[in-house]
Amino acid sequence: MDQRLITDLKAAIRSIPDYPKPGVVFRDITTLLGDARAFRRAVDELVHPFAGGRVDKVAGIEARGFILGGAIAHQLSSGFVPIRKKGKLPHETVRIAYSLEYGVDEMEIHTDAIGQGERVILVDDLIATGGTAVAATQLLRQMGANIVAACFIIDLPDLGGAKKLRDLGVEVRSLVSFE
Ligand code: PRP
Ligand code: ADE
Repeated sequence: MDQRLITDLKAAIRSIPDYPKPGVVFRDITTLLGDARAFRRAVDELVHPFAGGRVDKVAGIEARGFILGGAIAHQLSSGFVPIRKKGKLPHETVRIAYSLEYGVDEMEIHTDAIGQGERVILVDDLIATGGTAVAATQLLRQMGANIVAACFIIDLPDLGGAKKLRDLGVEVRSLVSFE
C-alpha cells in the first residue's frame, strides 16, 4: 500500500487518551469520516482487492462497521447484513457473548441473513483484541457463510486480534496500524 496514503489516513484519525477507560487510547475515525477525501480513499483501498470478484454480502459490526460496511457494499454491489448489539434485531436471531479491549457485550445476527455458502466480507473500523471480530466470524460461519475476508481501517497489532482471526483461517485486511 502507498506509504503516503497510510500517512494521510493516520493523520485523519484522532487519538483520545484515557477513553472510555484510563489506559486506553481511543482511535476515533469520526475525523476520517468527516474528511471527504480520506473517507473515499479508505473505502476505495478496502474494496480494491474484491472489485470484479463475487461478494454476496458485506456484514458490518455495530456501530462503526455499519458506516464503512454500507459504503463498501454499495461499491461492490453486494447486500448488507447488520451484526447488532443484543436486543436490536426484530426477527429470529443467533446471539453470542464476547469481550473487547474495554468491556463485554453480546451481538446478534438474523438467522435468515445469510444463505449457505454465500461469500461474505466482514467489516469493522478497528480490530484490537479481536474479541468482536472472532465472535462475528463464529456467528457468520454458524450461518453457513464463506468468509472471503475481514476488513478494518485500523489494526492494533499489539493486542493480537488480527493474528487470532488469521489463525481461524480468515484473510485480514487493514489499512493502518497503531502500536
Ligand atoms: C469497537 C470497534 C470494534 C471493537 C474492537 O466497538 O468498533 O467493533 O471495539 O475491539 P476488539 O477487537 O477488542 O473486540 P465498540 O464495541 O466500542 O462499539 P461501537 O462501535 O458501538 O462504539
Ligand atoms: N475498540 C477497541 N479498542 C479500541 C480503541 N483503542 N479505539 C477505538 N475503538 C476501539
